[in-house]
Amino acid sequence: MPRYAGVLDMGRGILMLKKAIAVVTSGGDSPGMNAAARAVVRTAVYEGVEVYGVHNGYSGMVHDDIEQLTSRSVSDLIQRGGTFLGTARSKSFMTPEGRKVAFENLRKHGIEGLVIIGGDGSLTGGSLMSRETGMPIVGLPGTIDNDVWGMDYTIGCDTACNTIVDAINKLRDTASAHRRIILVEVMGRHSGWLAMMSGIAGGAEYILVPEVAFDLEEISIELQEMYERGKRYSIVVVAEGAGSAIEIGKIIGEKTAIDTRVSVLGHIQRGGSPTVEDRIKASMLGEKAALAVISGVNDVVFSFNEGQVVSVNLFEAVNNKKTLDPELVRLSRVLA
Ligand code: F6P
Repeated sequence: MPRYAGVLDMGRGILMLKKAIAVVTSGGDSPGMNAAARAVVRTAVYEGVEVYGVHNGYSGMVHDDIEQLTSRSVSDLIQRGGTFLGTARSKSFMTPEGRKVAFENLRKHGIEGLVIIGGDGSLTGGSLMSRETGMPIVGLPGTIDNDVWGMDYTIGCDTACNTIVDAINKLRDTASAHRRIILVEVMGRHSGWLAMMSGIAGGAEYILVPEVAFDLEEISIELQEMYERGKRYSIVVVAEGAGSAIEIGKIIGEKTAIDTRVSVLGHIQRGGSPTVEDRIKASMLGEKAALAVISGVNDVVFSFNEGQVVSVNLFEAVNNKKTLDPELVRLSRVLA
């Protein structure tokens, strides 16, 4: 189990050590990033601390695209997917020189601490900048992948799962009508979490994930036998990290001689209005992160684990690989 820095109980009466902080969204966007950023801004304003927004991720930090925000800056946002600040990947920020320019730009505005909302790549970049420049950094896991070590939640994963399950529900209708096998490719980069959760929730017959070996010969024989026993259709969820659903679908179609189709969901999984879970959890984490960075906390990522807000050491979070819960893998087999 990960070593937590402990659940921080950041009361309101904390000694404010910082006068100005900033928030940046980086890497792939996710539904709920706006709710988190909104909570960071509103918490800083509530505490009487100046708050700045960095536009377009680390690229904006390197190019000094930094703007002071007010409570009104984050109106009409909680229900919106994406990120009002914008996000972008930055080659220059991947160099120590680029990170130094970014740090100097932050200091130009008097910024003394930074909240980073992003995936493991963005949190890694932030950790490097913090170690190289001394800029206090607090991270929030903004990614639909749910692939950050030390936590069982990332901002946007619940919304993405619901988007995928909605797609599976629709695909079940047409697969049944035509007696087809339909493969659904989902995101998750190298993690199978999105595929596993949405596959179980969507009632998929098979869920192919990078963490678990699978045999297409065996799967095809089983699909054929189910079909011959009268089963009308099958859904196979494929995590992008496990392979191309188009290629896998071709193999299954040939081996089973059953009409087979493929849907690659793509970036629809990244959009949409965040669910209540993502809005509430992102808001809670945004407040925690703002209070922490204002009070001088550094090098931690806040998230949830087993229902509790936890703070995980940033370096550990980005340098450990999160594994897929074997209980979910077992359950998916029982229910298939
Ligand atoms: O990390 C989030 C994610 O959506 C992954 O699941 C996916 O593989 C990747 O981003 C896609 O990146 P891009 O938006 O740059 O195509």
